[in-house]
Amino acid sequence: MLEVNELNASRWAAGYWHFIRELVRHPREIGAMCPSSPFLARRMASLVPEGQGLVLELGPGGGVVTAALLSQGIAADDLVLVERSAVLSAHLARRFPGVKLIHGDAAHLSRFEALRNQPIRAIVSSLPLRSLRRSVVREIMDQISLISGPGTMFIQFTYALRGGFADQAAGFKRDQRHVVWRNLPPARIDAYRYLSESATD
Ligand SMILES: C[S@@+](CC[C@H](N)C(=O)[O-])C[C@H]1O[C@@H](n2cnc3c(N)ncnc32)[C@H](O)[C@@H]1O
Repeated sequence: MLEVNELNASRWAAGYWHFIRELVRHPREIGAMCPSSPFLARRMASLVPEGQGLVLELGPGGGVVTAALLSQGIAADDLVLVERSAVLSAHLARRFPGVKLIHGDAAHLSRFEALRNQPIRAIVSSLPLRSLRRSVVREIMDQISLISGPGTMFIQFTYALRGGFADQAAGFKRDQRHVVWRNLPPARIDAYRYLSESATD
């Protein structure tokens, strides 16, 4: 029988393998040359505020950030994953059986029953916003605004260490910015807070 550490290592290895396979098949949708490091994942998870409401993870991929969110103390019942890749969704379902998983597109968030009329505490996104088509990014940002309410945090990483992001979701204002050097390549995390429909960054 596998020990807990061996089990964790084999799950991590499975996630890595599925991630690389999907990267070869769909480079634009994966948009990263390797999975997020545990340092990046932990930093993102640490920005989720305490309190009520769902924590929505977009583009969880192999599950590195999901694991960090659970370790951070986010209850599995409060966590909802939205992943477009069928292969990675199947992997996530095996790795996190107690977490709600939607195999679907972040451009359709308001259609998902699990998110309807639910307060959203935070949206933690690994979506590759710089490699996805701009029209898709705009749809996703519109959906993020639609499902958010006052106080919702939107936490996104990028490999662009400088500069802004032209298509930011309406209603959000930047709250924090952090650079994580221990990631390949180094990454910047931007955390935005939803204020009101008319607020802009
Ligand atoms: C940068 S990778 C994930 C990184 C993740 N933190 C990891 O370490 O595995 C981006 C992920 O976003 C997913 N994705 C891309 N477009 C999507 C969309 N429109 N809706 C949901 N997921 C999407 C990809 O399938 C991929 O799993």
